[in-house]
Amino acid sequence: MSDLDFKRHRRLRRTASMRALVRETHLRKDDLIFPIFVVEGEGIKNEVASMPGVYQVSLDYLTEEMNELTRVGVRSVIVFGVPNEKDEVGSQAYHKEGIVQRSIRQIKEEVPSLTVIADTCLCQYTDHGHCGIVREGDIDNDESLKYITQTAVTQAEAGADIIAPSNMMDGFVAAIRKGLDEAGYSQIPIMSYAVKYASSFYGPFRDAAHSSPQFGDRRAYQMDPSNRLEALREAESDVQEGADFLIVKPALAYLDIMREVKDRFNLPLVAYNVSGEYSMIKAAAQNGWVNEQEIVLEKLTAMKRAGADLIVTYFAKDAAKWLDE
Ligand code: PBG
Repeated sequence: MSDLDFKRHRRLRRTASMRALVRETHLRKDDLIFPIFVVEGEGIKNEVASMPGVYQVSLDYLTEEMNELTRVGVRSVIVFGVPNEKDEVGSQAYHKEGIVQRSIRQIKEEVPSLTVIADTCLCQYTDHGHCGIVREGDIDNDESLKYITQTAVTQAEAGADIIAPSNMMDGFVAAIRKGLDEAGYSQIPIMSYAVKYASSFYGPFRDAAHSSPQFGDRRAYQMDPSNRLEALREAESDVQEGADFLIVKPALAYLDIMREVKDRFNLPLVAYNVSGEYSMIKAAAQNGWVNEQEIVLEKLTAMKRAGADLIVTYFAKDAAKWLDE
């Protein structure tokens, strides 16, 4: 064999400590952002049927949940509201006493060490379930911007550390930036869902947040999964409009897009590891078909390798615990 000319890559894989020495990607607890669903009412801690281990909680359970998060070492949370009342314009989204505004205020008061991110969208709050204002069967882009901006401003007033608009209207970053600045919140960053695909991987979230569209679908504002250049255009305009972070969503089927966005733009990049990605692993793990811990850490690491700096994931608590082992 000595006359063969080949490379011995396995030299660097011989022992665990050698492998640790040459490891290129590291998953850290500070990379993780935990999504929480807050419902109106009292004494509610409902497990979401399609998302085992994920709960909708009422405000009286919220502090306990947040304390648990800090105990395991996760320091960021993104808040989704599930209101009792919905109407045509989603007025509970921008109400000063809306469920998200109250949640933010409570977290900032009781667990101030957490970074609180507000998801800024209308779909959980509108009776038609769309992310914008509907006029004669169509989403009115520019009209929607007014409502989404108002939502962002009331979230900032409540104490949100970061505004994360997810509604995919054109110009939402520009509109929100202007609104925040005029209201005196120029220090509050925008984490834009810059690249958000119209994805079937959101199914379980819509159960959790009661946010399914009541007619049609979201393809006139969320992106076609076939498109790559369009993702770069979306990211570019959000950067120009003043975004401080860029999100790519979903994560696992879009790692190629993540890498390209990371290589082209110099902003912190966030992967949104969405509900369907969570539920598929949970279901397989419950059947004993995959090793949950190994597969979760593997896929979170893959997202970082693809260029994500941060990851929104329903596995945040579990991953933090496993990283300690
Ligand atoms: C709201 C929103 C959605 C998700 C995050 N924000 C649903 C959607 O756009 O239909 C999905 C998150 C997930 O699936 O985990 N616009």
